[in-house]
Formats: sequence, structure tokens, C-alpha cells
Amino acid sequence: MKGIILAGGLGSRLYPLTFATNKHLLPIYDQPMIYYPIATLVNAGIDHIMIVTGGPHAGHFLRVLRNGKHLGIRHLEYAYQENEGGIAEALSLCQEFAGGDDVCVILGDNTTDADIRDDVEGFTDGALLFLASVSDPERFGCPVFDPGDSSRILEIEEKPDNPQSPYAVTGLYIYDNRVFDYISRLAPSDRGELEITDVNNWYIRDDSLRWTVLDGYWSDAGTFESLYRAGRFWAERRAAGVERADTYSATAQSG
Ligand code: DAU
Repeated sequence: MKGIILAGGLGSRLYPLTFATNKHLLPIYDQPMIYYPIATLVNAGIDHIMIVTGGPHAGHFLRVLRNGKHLGIRHLEYAYQENEGGIAEALSLCQEFAGGDDVCVILGDNTTDADIRDDVEGFTDGALLFLASVSDPERFGCPVFDPGDSSRILEIEEKPDNPQSPYAVTGLYIYDNRVFDYISRLAPSDRGELEITDVNNWYIRDDSLRWTVLDGYWSDAGTFESLYRAGRFWAERRAAGVERADTYSATAQSG
């Protein structure tokens, strides 16, 4: 399985912090934001990774990540998204990199301590979504569960005014290679983006979407409040002895 981290966009919700660099290189406590999704993939055994970025500071990624070896990445590629055309558009740039394989996709501003190795290794086909219970589901993609069978999702709504449950669809997805075909059928949403929620709804229509609740902490970090909250969480984890991504990868490589 290939790994994909989507780190494009202008990060305008974090102006003025993102005037000088890309959002995903801002700190969450003691690491650049993008180290966290990288660690999620590498810890799950995925070490062939493509990062999609964009905007005026894209070159900063090379300075921070270089070839990624210090983070446990074996093969690192970059793609450049010209505009903020949406998460699904960013993903479409990875079709050649995926080369027919399944893909584990994570948004560059998502951070979790969950171990998804079993989900990655057990994946067969379709789409797998990871849900998390949150206090503000209206900020996210939200599942609508079948009232007659709560294990079935009928639809995902993007940022609904009245979410039907406390669950958010996190920015962590596993897709089979059909995903690129679904993206090619999308039209831009009202906000002018190709929406990942529309991709997920295609999988639902084809009865090939599964979901699980992410087992651990999860947060995005794209607003001041969530960036602060994520920083506080990781400061506590570090105090409890959880190592930084560059430290444990270096140990693993030498050991
Ligand atoms: O964090 C999970 C949520 O992420 C999901 O619940 C939503 O369904 C999904 O639409 C998304 O919502 P956001 O409004 O938080 O997405 P945002 O525009 O902040 O983009 C999140 C990341 O996706 C961003 O850090 C980089 C990447 N991205 C986004 C856009 C719009 C790209 O790579 N290219 C893009 O054009």
C-alpha cells in the first residue's frame, strides 16, 4: 500500500502564521505538523509516500523533510497542486505514484496517536473511513447512520448545520485504486472544490464503504483552537515518555 499526505492549500484560517511558511510546517509542540501524519503512516508499515503541497512556500518542505530517511521513509515523492482545488483534486495528482496499488491517505493537518497497522494490513478493497467522536462535528464531514442498522452509513454530509451524531469523518482514509476513477467523475462543490466527501459518497452508492472508530486521540490543527489543543496533547504525551518521530526512527534504523 502506498501512503499519501495532502498538504496543499494556503492555510488562510491561520493567517498571519502562514504568511511566512506552509501551514503543515508550523509546530505542533516540538515537531513540524507534517511529522505527525508521516509517523502515522510509517508506524503502520507504509514507507513509500507522496506529499502533495502547493502555494508560495512549497520549497520549505525539502529543507525540513529532505529525503525523509530520518523519519523512517524509504521513498519520498512530492507533487505540486497549482491551486486550492480541493482535497480530492490534490489526491488525483497521485494516480501515477499509486500505480494501481491501494492508498492510505492522510491530511497533512491531522494528528493522531492511533495505530492503524491492523487496518492497513487487513484492507482488501473499497474504502475504509476512520471516525472520531468530537465536540464540534459541524466543522467536519459527518456520517448519517441508517436508523434501522447503525452499522451502515447512508451518506456523508460535509459540514452540516445539524450533524446527526457526535462523529466526524477524520482526514484518514484507505482506498482501493477505484478512487481515481471516482475523482474523475466529480464536479466542483459550491465552494469550488473537488470534495473528498463526494468521493466517499460514491463508495457508499457502490456499497463498498466500511468504517471504524479511530482508536486513540485525533485532532486536526487547521484553526488556532485546534492547533493549540493538539500542541497541548502532544506536550503531555512527550512528558509521559512518548518519543519524537525523528528520535524513534533513528533508533529503529540503527537498531
Ligand atoms: O480534518 C478532517 C476534515 O478535513 C474532514 O472531516 C472533511 O470532510 C474534509 O473536507 C476536511 O475538511 P477541512 O475543511 O478541515 O479541510 P481543509 O480545507 O482545512 O483541508 C485539510 C487539509 O487538506 C489541508 O491541511 C491540506 C489538504 N488540502 C486541502 C485543500 C482544500 C490540499 O492538499 N489541497 C486543497 O486544495
